[in-house]
Amino acid sequence: MSRNGLIALVAGVLVAIVAGWWLSEIAVEMADEGDKPVVSTGEARVGGPFTLVDQNGKTVTDEDFRGRYMLVYFGFTFCPDVCPTELSIMATAIEMLGKDGEKVQPVFITIDPERDKPEIMARYVPLFHPRLVGLTGSPERIAEVANAYHVFYRKAEDESSPEDYTMDHSSIVFLMGPKGEYLKLFPPATSPDKMAKEIASYIE
Ligand code: NI
Repeated sequence: MSRNGLIALVAGVLVAIVAGWWLSEIAVEMADEGDKPVVSTGEARVGGPFTLVDQNGKTVTDEDFRGRYMLVYFGFTFCPDVCPTELSIMATAIEMLGKDGEKVQPVFITIDPERDKPEIMARYVPLFHPRLVGLTGSPERIAEVANAYHVFYRKAEDESSPEDYTMDHSSIVFLMGPKGEYLKLFPPATSPDKMAKEIASYIE
């Protein structure tokens, strides 16, 4: 995808998350000041339940990852540059954590389920990390999980060759906790060193 497209998508997701957080703070303040209970929608929720298929064709849900930290990235295997870069950063950060890195499960979720079938994912994920899990599913399931993480994506078709479409997508790495709770997001091109340090600060 183009750099401008990427920046716009990243800005979009950050604005959505910050706005959600800000609104939740306002709601809490109102709750503190009033006598009557105020119904708050809580924090901007990131993540949630999913049922997808891994690179071995096995059905996997979010609950299969309980007890471990999940480092989650959404992208597609045909991505020429951004996805490989981010997946490499994730893998390097996990290796930098040493023994603690074993508590972190790297997860790659495709936003191009039309092309990224399990057999494609099976060839792709080991290129980055031996424990990287590649998840795909029906377009509906993928839309649900992307929506839950506030990840934007869309097909960018090339009119001269419709077969060679690419995907515009947000490029964010999410850190989820052992109960599946959202902990932190990493913007594009966070250094592996910074990512490792931030993850380490959460690991007990
Ligand atoms: Ni990409």
